[in-house]
Amino acid sequence: MKHKLLLIIGILIFNMNVFAYTKNSCDKKGILLVTFGTTYLSAQKTFKNIEDEVKNKYPELDIRWAYTSKIIRKKLRQQGQKINSPAEALALMGEEGFTHVAVQSLHIIPGAEYDALEKTVLAFENMPKGIKRIELGKPLLYKHDDIEKIVSALNTIFHKQIVKNETIVFMGHGTHHNANIYYPGVQYYFSASSENLFLGTVEGYPTINDVIKLLKAKSVKTVVLTPFMSVAGDHAQNDMAGKDANSWKSILIKNGFSVKIIMKGFAEYNQVVDIWINHLQNALNKLEN
Ligand code: CO
Repeated sequence: MKHKLLLIIGILIFNMNVFAYTKNSCDKKGILLVTFGTTYLSAQKTFKNIEDEVKNKYPELDIRWAYTSKIIRKKLRQQGQKINSPAEALALMGEEGFTHVAVQSLHIIPGAEYDALEKTVLAFENMPKGIKRIELGKPLLYKHDDIEKIVSALNTIFHKQIVKNETIVFMGHGTHHNANIYYPGVQYYFSASSENLFLGTVEGYPTINDVIKLLKAKSVKTVVLTPFMSVAGDHAQNDMAGKDANSWKSILIKNGFSVKIIMKGFAEYNQVVDIWINHLQNALNKLEN
């Protein structure tokens, strides 16, 4: 009799544990896509391509957006467009009943914007009456595999130019953050894959002058300029292709090169978007554990 009672108690405790670990039917999973942002409407539209790709892959999950740039959010607000910060978006998702959120960084490198986003995400874990579980997906370039994938994707995307022996110069953003090392790092992978791919940065190393030295050593005549950024926004329109004497286009022309422009950001290429989606899948997997 005593044994039977212990057995019943044992089964009860076991069942309670199983119940505790079973997914609550009130759980609601969602995705937050986070980018630096842009004030260019044409560039904003290209974010739609990422959203469509994510929707295709996860039709059952709701998608929200946030911009990490405070300056861009302020400019947009003055133009009557309200875009949330990551903290605002997560607070609203908690309020809407989302319990499990995969946040996907659409940044290029794990730099200052990514670091700040990581802090925000950590602060939202286990919010009382809010989000229970939250995971952050890595930016485009994180591990060795990511860089191999982007280099292979860009070799495919720019195949037409490469077979014509045209030289492609990518404009990366660059940063004071130690993650700037990704840019000269990518150049090493570029050089191993093709003689025709070069990467410079607006605000970091290598600069356009560093790239020009390499182009001259190779006796390049024509250069195809294109962004190494998620969208063709302000940097692409002005610093890359602008009419000013200090735009990359003007500097290259002054140095004797003829210049072609491809005004497209990474968000427009599905082969590149797939790398971000792969990181999102990893974040969604972690939410299940
Ligand atoms: Co900038």
